[in-house]
Amino acid sequence: MTSIAIPALTKDLVRVLIDADTIQRRVDELAYQINKEYEGIEESLILVGVLKGSFIFLADLCRKLKIPHVVDFISLSSYGASSQSTGNVRLIMDTRENLQGRHVMIVEDILDSGFTLDYLCRNFKARDPDSLKTVVLLDKPDRRKVNVELDYVGFEIPDVWVVGYGLDYAERYRTLPYIAEMVPVTD
Ligand code: PRP
Repeated sequence: MTSIAIPALTKDLVRVLIDADTIQRRVDELAYQINKEYEGIEESLILVGVLKGSFIFLADLCRKLKIPHVVDFISLSSYGASSQSTGNVRLIMDTRENLQGRHVMIVEDILDSGFTLDYLCRNFKARDPDSLKTVVLLDKPDRRKVNVELDYVGFEIPDVWVVGYGLDYAERYRTLPYIAEMVPVTD
């Protein structure tokens, strides 16, 4: 087996918050719980990844699922170019699947203010799915502005800016295998 070099921290990456092995172990645990909860379902569970941040988490999670499932995506935007959620969530690209009467699970990389997931849950509930659950890799409870019910959570993290494993800073660092704390270098 070839070993993969772990990209080193750069000047603005302060520390590794969650290393790659720890992420993979937690994804295994989440998949185990989901497999157990949905065991025996006849209709496929629709996993809806929220682009772009969830794409790596979703790819790892779905490959650990033994239950029938299909993958779909939705694209929303709330941050724009800023690092603060505006609360003004926009739908950029909808799912291809019709969610009515289906088992649906929203797959998110991070829950911050909660505006994005709150919008999505309300939007999806209006489509009358058979069931609707959420799985979020990272939860930043200190930043919450709106209450959102979570079904599966990977890690609770402090109020720091994080990148890697799908999460970006101005589109950088998404493909790091670990999650790092970032403080933009201003000089
Ligand atoms: C991020 C993240 C979540 C959302 C969470 O998306 O992927 O979807 O913000 O924040 P909230 O709880 O404050 O709403 P972003 O708009 O940065 O887009 P991206 O996933 O394409 O990077």
